[in-house]
Amino acid sequence: MSSFLRPFSKENPYKLCFVCLGNICRSPTAEGVFIHKVKEAGLSSYFHIDSAGTAAYHIGKGADNRSQEIANKYGVHLPSRGRQLTYADLEEFDLILAMDSENFSNISHLDTRGIYSYKIKMIRYFDPTPEDGEVPDPYYGGAQGFENVFEMLDRSAEALLEQLQEHME
Ligand code: 4NP
Repeated sequence: MSSFLRPFSKENPYKLCFVCLGNICRSPTAEGVFIHKVKEAGLSSYFHIDSAGTAAYHIGKGADNRSQEIANKYGVHLPSRGRQLTYADLEEFDLILAMDSENFSNISHLDTRGIYSYKIKMIRYFDPTPEDGEVPDPYYGGAQGFENVFEMLDRSAEALLEQLQEHME
């Protein structure tokens, strides 16, 4: 059976795509946090890191100002430009990380032949304190929601990077 875990190297980088609904709040934050951690570890050339939305509402837009504010506070830059997830992404990436179960379901529906389920995971599967396993949509809420999202993504990204590093060659 295929696994999202595979050996990777500078010549054969590991490819991750973080996915939410709009690609302006949660997945850009996850992407920026993961890029930051990989850079700090000196491992940038071992990874290809991207994000996308299941919806097409915000194509071409940068991360929401509220997400950028929290990220800046932690010294994290969010470089994303909104784009919609496609079937080609399922083929291309090693790991597709859904923020919530609605994203997970929409991503799974794109997988019409049912051959990529091994690489579609909920990001809080990796969180040491996963609670209900969801990264809640902060878009219509206040600043505390964005802070909470950042903290859960920071924990999840840290644990995910540790797990992936065991397969680095
Ligand atoms: P995200 O948040 O999925 O974390 O980027 C949202 C952004 C925009 C909308 C919904 C969620 N919206 O409905 O426009």
